[in-house]
Amino acid sequence: MHAQPHELQRYSDRERMYHWATALLLLLAACSGMAFFHPNLFFLSIFTGGGAWTRILHPFIGVATAFVFLFLYLRVRIDNQAEAHDKAWDGKLGDMIRGNKDALPPAGKYNPAQKQVFWAMSISLAVLLVTGFVFWRPWFAVYFPVDVVRVAVVLHSIAAVVMVLSVIVHVYAAIWIKGSVRAMTRGTVSRAWAKQNHALWHRQMTEGKK
Ligand code: HEM
Repeated sequence: MHAQPHELQRYSDRERMYHWATALLLLLAACSGMAFFHPNLFFLSIFTGGGAWTRILHPFIGVATAFVFLFLYLRVRIDNQAEAHDKAWDGKLGDMIRGNKDALPPAGKYNPAQKQVFWAMSISLAVLLVTGFVFWRPWFAVYFPVDVVRVAVVLHSIAAVVMVLSVIVHVYAAIWIKGSVRAMTRGTVSRAWAKQNHALWHRQMTEGKK
């Protein structure tokens, strides 16, 4: 879908496809993983075919999640790099949580909080992938000493908690900041949304194109 005069293009079709494929796969990976975490969560294995199937599928779904996310990562990593103007956001977390937008400094394509969530997702997914291979039985675990396998299990669990919390913050912010979800459904945002939430990006997108 192309941007109308009162809109700006924020994501391409390809980027949205990578995003929603990642979201769906991550949801399946998280549900199947949490099913092993505690017996109270075992019901979550229902989405991946019950106990035995969940055990077989979880690592494959995890690898697929990381694979698809890599394409999204390559598209958005540059805009998630910390920039000098991000410094002005230090100490503004309270204003952001209260939705006190007038007190927030102008942001680029992503604000510093979005960037932190992005890196938390990227790093935790990388840790999940690497540690997951270390205790993937029956194929890979046999190549590692048992102590390495134990450390991998602990790191895998910590990274999973970081990932789930990051996704909760991400989805909450997407819903809470009105006009954001359409960026990932239609690919476009209103110019007013861009000006209010990402003034530097708005200026960059509209300079000389009035
Ligand atoms: C149902 C769940 C989800 C919803 C509703 C959602 C919504 C959104 C929205 C609205 C944006 C655009 C934000 C903007 O441009 O300012 C976005 C961007 C993005 N989302 Fe999601 N998302 C979901 C799940 C996920 C998951 C599971 C991941 C990764 C594990 C993810 C990773 C990203 C990334 C990397 C971006 C690009 C922006 C950035 O770098 O922060 N999303 N999402």
